[in-house]
Amino acid sequence: MLPPKRQHTRWEDPKVCLTITVLGCSGDLAKKKTYPALFALFTHGHLPPSTIVLGYARSKMDDDSLRSRVRDFLKGTPEMIEKFLGACFYEAGQYDDASATGPVFGGLASRLRDFERERCGDDGVGHRIFYLALPPSVYPPVCANIKASCATTEPAWTRVIVEKPFGRDLESSEKLSSEIATLFHESQLYRIDHYLGKELTQNLVVMRFKNRFLAPLWNRDNIASVQIVFKEPFGTQGRGGYFDEYGIIRDIIQNHLLQLLCLVAMEKPCSLSPEDIRDEKLKVLRCMEPVSTSDVALGQYGASGDEAAANKPGYLDDPTVPAGSKAPTFAMCVMRINNERWDGVPFIVEAGKALDEHKCEIRVQLKDVPGDLFSTERAAGRQARNEFVVRLQPDPAIYMLMTVKEPGLGVELAQSELELLYTRKYDGTYIPEAYERLILDCVNGDQQHFVRRDELAAAWSVFTPLLKYIDAGGLAPEVYPYGCDGPSNARTLRERAGYVQA
Ligand code: NDP
Ligand code: BG6
Repeated sequence: MLPPKRQHTRWEDPKVCLTITVLGCSGDLAKKKTYPALFALFTHGHLPPSTIVLGYARSKMDDDSLRSRVRDFLKGTPEMIEKFLGACFYEAGQYDDASATGPVFGGLASRLRDFERERCGDDGVGHRIFYLALPPSVYPPVCANIKASCATTEPAWTRVIVEKPFGRDLESSEKLSSEIATLFHESQLYRIDHYLGKELTQNLVVMRFKNRFLAPLWNRDNIASVQIVFKEPFGTQGRGGYFDEYGIIRDIIQNHLLQLLCLVAMEKPCSLSPEDIRDEKLKVLRCMEPVSTSDVALGQYGASGDEAAANKPGYLDDPTVPAGSKAPTFAMCVMRINNERWDGVPFIVEAGKALDEHKCEIRVQLKDVPGDLFSTERAAGRQARNEFVVRLQPDPAIYMLMTVKEPGLGVELAQSELELLYTRKYDGTYIPEAYERLILDCVNGDQQHFVRRDELAAAWSVFTPLLKYIDAGGLAPEVYPYGCDGPSNARTLRERAGYVQA
């Protein structure tokens, strides 16, 4: 399939307009993330003034009931909210209908045409984004129906945003990719991973490649280990049915955390173009062996043990989770990159639900100082290693742990922080939500922060053998109490991998 012609979109032209169709707008993601992100873009003047947001789903709703459904999730002045909702509409219909006599998306297509005629005239150029806030099982028929009834002809463009999980393993992901590739060119597909839209994720490229003092340190000679940690203090929260089919590795590690790992580990790209950056991420993935089953610790949360949190149910108490499920809600994987920069450095990647805190951070731990003058301190277990930490959430921050002399007459050593706390440094500065940034990138045709097909396949290759082994019952999760800091097998694995606790 030939790529569509790349051209600058002239939003200021009154003959040009944009429609964003949110398919599955009745769902959880749409109300909690998609509409609030669109609203924030609208409020800050980032959407073309002619934009229409058309919700589409099977549920019986009309424009007003859709607006009532999303209103509570929008944060802003009542005037702004009503102005935005005035540009939001709803169209009911099927995603796929074998018994349909006409085109399944016929109603949707004629609604889009009406909006475009109204906004930019009969001879206008109506660009279209389709946001698939739907279970991936319906992506192929939905994409086929978009292509059949709603795809634009040049100079208007069509872009399709798809959500994760994109497949369950390498084979299913490639099958899905191949089906969709017959309908849309790769440059029209925006595979969203919202971790790529987070403020601190976007800072990684700047931080790594624009700070001279970091460059000489960023390699196996100086770095002892890299930890990438995701913790949530709540369980599956009614999404147990979805979660059980996937488990924590597919839900968080294979996508969000692996993307962070790639940005931490990649070489400097030739330029900041999306393809150059994605090429470098791909090279990291290609240098990784599939995760070994001996480098993994799994857990599943049970009910909380202590009195205070006694009412916190275990994973298996969720009525949407099949009885006796062995799906991991916690996983730690030690991953290795076989290249000149990272050979021998463990990347300890960990994600868990129902843990003791809400956190996502990257911890780069440096090696001990050679020829150490203070080796007696170390022998006494009092000297910790330097760490460079990027905290994505909560409270975004970048800080370094360094050893200093404690004030006083003696020479006592202490760990101290050099820190950039965003709330302090950028107090009052608006920090956009991940989905806002990514939707805006799609409007602007920038794919840098979206996952390319070959990248996705390489990411699945790293995890597929392990996932198959787990699915076949090869590794059982250790039960950990709701609200703890993780299962004990993870602590053992972390130490075995070489992480030294500060
Ligand atoms: P939902 O389960 O809420 O589904 C969204 C909508 O899709 C539903 O309202 C329903 O609309 C329709 N739908 C549900 N099941 C089916 C089905 N079996 N066949 C056809 N249509 C169906 O999903 P979410 O909103 O939670 O998520 C949407 C997508 O985003 C998924 O791919 C999910 O993995 C991903 N995602 C979600 C996140 C979240 O926080 N919710 C976070 C990250 C990714 P109707 O019946 O009205 O047509
Ligand atoms: C989603 C996962 O992709 O990311 C959820 O499906 C998880 O299980 C969520 O809760 C976390 O996102 P954030 O931005 O709240 O850290």
